[in-house]
Amino acid sequence: MKIAVFCSGNGSNFQAIIDACRKGLFKADISLMVCDNPNAFSVKRAEKEGIKSFTIERKAFSSAEEFEARIIEELKKERIELICLAGYMRILSAGFVEKYKGRILNIHPALLPSFKGTHGIKDAIDHGVKTTGVTVHFVDEEMDSGPVILQEAVKVEETDTEASLAEKIHSVEHRLYPEAIRLFIKGKLKLIGRRVKILP
Ligand code: GRF
Repeated sequence: MKIAVFCSGNGSNFQAIIDACRKGLFKADISLMVCDNPNAFSVKRAEKEGIKSFTIERKAFSSAEEFEARIIEELKKERIELICLAGYMRILSAGFVEKYKGRILNIHPALLPSFKGTHGIKDAIDHGVKTTGVTVHFVDEEMDSGPVILQEAVKVEETDTEASLAEKIHSVEHRLYPEAIRLFIKGKLKLIGRRVKILP
Protein backbone atom coordinates (compact mmCIF):
# COMPACT_ATOMS: atom_id res chain seq x y z
CA MET A 1 0.00 0.00 0.00
CA LYS A 2 1.32 3.42 -0.95
CA ILE A 3 1.22 5.88 1.92
CA ALA A 4 1.68 9.65 2.11
CA VAL A 5 2.36 11.23 5.50
CA PHE A 6 1.41 14.89 5.96
CA CYS A 7 3.45 16.93 8.46
CA SER A 8 4.00 20.53 9.51
CA GLY A 9 6.63 20.18 12.22
CA ASN A 10 8.87 17.77 14.07
CA GLY A 11 7.60 14.60 12.42
CA SER A 12 8.23 12.19 15.28
CA ASN A 13 5.09 10.29 14.30
CA PHE A 14 6.29 10.22 10.70
CA GLN A 15 9.51 8.68 12.03
CA ALA A 16 7.58 6.13 14.11
CA ILE A 17 5.61 5.10 11.02
CA ILE A 18 8.83 4.70 9.01
CA ASP A 19 10.47 2.67 11.80
CA ALA A 20 7.44 0.39 12.23
CA CYS A 21 7.33 -0.24 8.49
CA ARG A 22 11.05 -1.04 8.40
CA LYS A 23 10.58 -3.45 11.32
CA GLY A 24 7.89 -5.22 9.30
CA LEU A 25 4.84 -4.31 11.37
CA PHE A 26 2.99 -3.67 8.10
CA LYS A 27 3.76 -3.90 4.42
CA ALA A 28 3.68 -0.48 2.82
CA ASP A 29 5.58 1.91 0.67
CA ILE A 30 5.90 5.26 2.43
CA SER A 31 6.14 7.05 -0.87
CA LEU A 32 5.71 10.68 0.05
CA MET A 33 5.91 13.19 2.89
CA VAL A 34 3.80 16.27 2.24
CA CYS A 35 4.75 19.33 4.25
CA ASP A 36 3.38 22.88 4.33
CA ASN A 37 6.39 24.27 6.21
CA PRO A 38 9.83 24.37 4.58
CA ASN A 39 11.52 24.70 7.99
CA ALA A 40 9.91 21.61 9.47
CA PHE A 41 12.22 18.95 10.88
CA SER A 42 10.09 16.35 9.08
CA VAL A 43 11.72 17.54 5.82
CA LYS A 44 15.14 16.60 7.21
CA ARG A 45 13.81 13.24 8.37
CA ALA A 46 12.46 12.48 4.90
CA GLU A 47 15.79 13.41 3.35
CA LYS A 48 17.70 11.20 5.78
CA GLU A 49 15.32 8.28 5.23
CA GLY A 50 15.36 8.63 1.44
CA ILE A 51 11.65 9.40 1.27
CA LYS A 52 10.42 11.84 -1.33
CA SER A 53 9.15 15.02 0.24
CA PHE A 54 6.85 17.56 -1.28
CA THR A 55 6.97 20.92 0.44
CA ILE A 56 4.26 23.34 -0.48
CA GLU A 57 3.42 26.66 1.12
CA ARG A 58 -0.15 27.89 1.31
CA LYS A 59 0.97 31.49 0.73
CA ALA A 60 2.16 30.61 -2.77
CA PHE A 61 -1.46 30.04 -3.80
CA SER A 62 -4.33 32.49 -4.02
CA SER A 63 -6.90 30.02 -2.73
CA ALA A 64 -7.08 26.92 -0.54
CA GLU A 65 -8.60 25.05 -3.49
CA GLU A 66 -5.59 25.72 -5.70
CA PHE A 67 -3.23 24.79 -2.87
CA GLU A 68 -5.01 21.48 -2.30
CA ALA A 69 -5.35 20.81 -6.03
CA ARG A 70 -1.58 20.93 -6.32
CA ILE A 71 -1.23 18.48 -3.43
CA ILE A 72 -3.80 16.15 -4.98
CA GLU A 73 -1.87 16.26 -8.25
CA GLU A 74 1.21 15.02 -6.38
CA LEU A 75 -0.76 12.32 -4.55
CA LYS A 76 -2.14 11.07 -7.86
CA LYS A 77 1.31 11.07 -9.43
CA GLU A 78 2.50 8.81 -6.60
CA ARG A 79 -0.71 6.73 -6.70
CA ILE A 80 -1.22 7.27 -2.97
CA GLU A 81 -3.78 4.97 -1.36
CA LEU A 82 -3.59 6.05 2.28
CA ILE A 83 -2.95 9.47 3.81
CA CYS A 84 -1.69 9.74 7.38
CA LEU A 85 -1.89 13.18 8.93
CA ALA A 86 0.88 13.46 11.51
CA GLY A 87 1.03 16.91 13.01
CA TYR A 88 -0.31 18.53 9.83
CA MET A 89 -1.61 21.91 10.97
CA ARG A 90 -4.20 22.52 8.26
CA ILE A 91 -7.77 21.45 7.93
CA LEU A 92 -8.48 19.55 4.74
CA SER A 93 -11.43 20.86 2.73
CA ALA A 94 -14.59 18.79 2.36
CA GLY A 95 -13.69 18.31 -1.30
CA PHE A 96 -10.31 16.86 -0.44
CA VAL A 97 -11.77 14.56 2.21
CA GLU A 98 -14.41 13.36 -0.25
CA LYS A 99 -11.73 12.40 -2.79
CA TYR A 100 -9.95 10.22 -0.24
CA LYS A 101 -12.97 9.20 1.80
CA GLY A 102 -12.13 6.52 4.36
CA ARG A 103 -8.45 6.69 3.41
CA ILE A 104 -7.27 9.56 5.62
CA LEU A 105 -6.14 8.95 9.19
CA ASN A 106 -5.16 11.44 11.88
CA ILE A 107 -3.61 11.25 15.31
CA HIS A 108 -4.70 13.55 18.11
CA PRO A 109 -3.02 14.00 21.51
CA ALA A 110 -6.19 13.66 23.63
CA LEU A 111 -9.16 11.35 24.05
CA LEU A 112 -11.55 12.75 21.45
CA PRO A 113 -14.07 14.29 21.55
CA SER A 114 -12.31 15.98 24.49
CA PHE A 115 -9.75 18.69 23.81
CA LYS A 116 -10.10 19.07 20.07
CA GLY A 117 -7.87 21.55 18.29
CA THR A 118 -4.21 22.41 18.24
CA HIS A 119 -3.52 22.49 21.99
CA GLY A 120 -4.88 19.13 23.12
CA ILE A 121 -2.11 18.53 25.67
CA LYS A 122 -2.07 22.02 27.20
CA ASP A 123 -5.87 22.13 27.31
CA ALA A 124 -5.98 18.83 29.23
CA ILE A 125 -3.45 20.11 31.77
CA ASP A 126 -5.28 23.44 32.13
CA HIS A 127 -8.61 21.70 32.61
CA GLY A 128 -7.15 19.54 35.35
CA VAL A 129 -8.22 16.17 34.00
CA LYS A 130 -6.75 13.10 35.68
CA THR A 131 -6.71 11.07 32.48
CA THR A 132 -6.13 12.12 28.90
CA GLY A 133 -4.69 10.10 26.04
CA VAL A 134 -4.27 9.52 22.35
CA THR A 135 -6.78 9.00 19.54
CA VAL A 136 -6.26 7.72 16.01
CA HIS A 137 -9.30 8.42 13.85
CA PHE A 138 -10.57 8.63 10.31
CA VAL A 139 -10.72 12.17 9.01
CA ASP A 140 -14.04 13.68 8.02
CA GLU A 141 -15.01 17.23 7.00
CA GLU A 142 -14.79 18.61 10.52
CA MET A 143 -11.77 19.07 12.74
CA ASP A 144 -10.91 16.10 15.00
CA SER A 145 -14.36 14.65 14.56
CA GLY A 146 -14.14 11.51 12.40
CA PRO A 147 -14.74 7.91 13.52
CA VAL A 148 -12.37 6.70 16.23
CA ILE A 149 -10.08 3.80 15.34
CA LEU A 150 -7.93 3.40 18.46
CA GLN A 151 -7.65 5.23 21.75
CA GLU A 152 -5.36 4.79 24.70
CA ALA A 153 -5.53 6.54 28.05
CA VAL A 154 -2.61 8.35 29.65
CA LYS A 155 -2.72 9.29 33.35
CA VAL A 156 -2.05 12.88 34.31
CA GLU A 157 -0.05 13.04 37.53
CA GLU A 158 -0.22 16.06 39.82
CA THR A 159 3.43 16.71 39.10
CA ASP A 160 2.98 16.66 35.33
CA THR A 161 3.80 19.73 33.28
CA GLU A 162 2.80 20.24 29.69
CA ALA A 163 6.28 19.01 28.66
CA SER A 164 6.25 15.86 30.79
CA LEU A 165 2.73 14.97 29.69
CA ALA A 166 3.67 15.58 26.05
CA GLU A 167 6.52 13.13 26.42
CA LYS A 168 4.21 10.41 27.75
CA ILE A 169 1.61 11.11 25.08
CA HIS A 170 4.14 11.02 22.27
CA SER A 171 5.48 7.66 23.33
CA VAL A 172 1.93 6.24 23.20
CA GLU A 173 1.35 7.93 19.82
CA HIS A 174 4.43 6.32 18.36
CA ARG A 175 3.00 2.88 19.14
CA LEU A 176 -0.70 3.55 18.46
CA TYR A 177 -0.40 5.17 15.02
CA PRO A 178 1.60 2.32 13.45
CA GLU A 179 -0.87 -0.17 14.95
CA ALA A 180 -3.83 1.69 13.40
CA ILE A 181 -2.04 1.72 10.05
CA ARG A 182 -1.40 -2.02 10.35
CA LEU A 183 -5.10 -2.64 10.98
CA PHE A 184 -6.07 -0.43 8.02
CA ILE A 185 -3.65 -2.19 5.66
CA LYS A 186 -4.83 -5.62 6.82
CA GLY A 187 -8.42 -4.58 6.02
CA LYS A 188 -9.45 -5.00 9.65
CA LEU A 189 -11.27 -1.68 10.01
CA LYS A 190 -14.94 -1.82 9.18
CA LEU A 191 -16.86 1.43 9.27
CA ILE A 192 -20.43 1.10 10.49
CA GLY A 193 -21.99 4.55 10.64
CA ARG A 194 -19.50 6.46 12.75
CA ARG A 195 -18.31 3.38 14.57
CA VAL A 196 -15.19 1.52 13.61
CA LYS A 197 -15.41 -2.22 14.14
CA ILE A 198 -12.04 -3.93 14.46
CA LEU A 199 -12.29 -7.31 12.80
CA PRO A 200 -10.48 -10.27 14.40
C1 GRF B 1 1.29 14.97 17.79
O1 GRF B 1 1.13 15.17 19.18
C2 GRF B 1 -0.03 14.65 17.15
O2 GRF B 1 -0.91 14.01 18.01
C3 GRF B 1 -0.56 16.02 16.80
O3 GRF B 1 0.56 16.77 16.45
C4 GRF B 1 1.72 16.24 17.09
C5 GRF B 1 2.73 16.00 16.02
O4 GRF B 1 3.98 15.65 16.54
N1 GRF B 1 -1.56 15.93 15.77
P1 GRF B 1 5.11 15.13 15.55
O5 GRF B 1 5.32 16.21 14.49
O6 GRF B 1 4.67 13.84 14.95
O7 GRF B 1 6.33 14.98 16.41
